Amino acid sequence: MFLQKIEKLFLDEMFYLNPQFKYIRIYRWSSFKNSNPWFNIFPTRLNLKPTMVLDLTFKMKNNYDSSLTFRRSCREGICGSCSMNINGKNALACLSVMNPKTLQFLTIYPLPHMFIVKDLVPDLTNFYNQYKLIKPWKMSNLNTDKSKMNEVTQSKMDRYELDGLYECILCACCSASCPSYWWNYDKYLGPAMLLQAYRWMVDSRDHNFNERTGFTDNKTRIDKCHSIANCVKVCPKKTNPTKTINLLKYYISANTKF
Ligand code: SF4
Ligand code: SF4
Ligand code: FES
Repeated sequence: MFLQKIEKLFLDEMFYLNPQFKYIRIYRWSSFKNSNPWFNIFPTRLNLKPTMVLDLTFKMKNNYDSSLTFRRSCREGICGSCSMNINGKNALACLSVMNPKTLQFLTIYPLPHMFIVKDLVPDLTNFYNQYKLIKPWKMSNLNTDKSKMNEVTQSKMDRYELDGLYECILCACCSASCPSYWWNYDKYLGPAMLLQAYRWMVDSRDHNFNERTGFTDNKTRIDKCHSIANCVKVCPKKTNPTKTINLLKYYISANTKF
């Protein structure tokens, strides 16, 4: 409460004195400090060009506090590592724009309902353990003799089945926006993993359909999805996990690949 008051005073004053300033509020927490999480507020003068949020976090780290920690790698929406909660929405920082003409404040949290390693870095151990569980690799009963290995081809139609699925970059934005996953992260697979599970089920080169459906057909692994579609709104790759989960449920109930 005290900190919030200080923060408000600081904000009011800075705003009053410098209306041309923009304010970046960033969530901070470190296990090395014996304290509750806190916010750093960085006033910054932006020129009127829209700026990518990832560039802003770099600016804050390079100019104000080098201990600010966040993940990033590709800077182009490909690696999926810079996912954060930006002004209330999970998104990739490298694809999110702050437009100084329309926005005075930018608030950045780590992905919600995740354990935090430091600052904006969530602990994705559970997320990746779940990824292992769905066996994200092709399991074919063809060409078991390695000396006779040939290329396994797909028809164009079979390849189209993977559109809207293969684009997933495992950024975890969807799972971290799913209320069912928040409360059942250790049992429910969540939208990202169910989309990945479906991606391998419909791959014409994979022959492990029954095992894959058998694994996901479980009271908590899939049934916790209530089709609220929070996950769809945040996916930076425009996939549709809700639709995919419903198709997956349909496959499971029909127990066959169409
Ligand atoms: S539709 Fe399902 S997976 Fe997506 S947010 Fe809602 S409960 Fe979670
Ligand atoms: S489905 Fe979209 S939001 Fe979810 S992990 Fe994949 S890319 Fe990220
Ligand atoms: S840095 Fe790779 S997706 Fe943002």
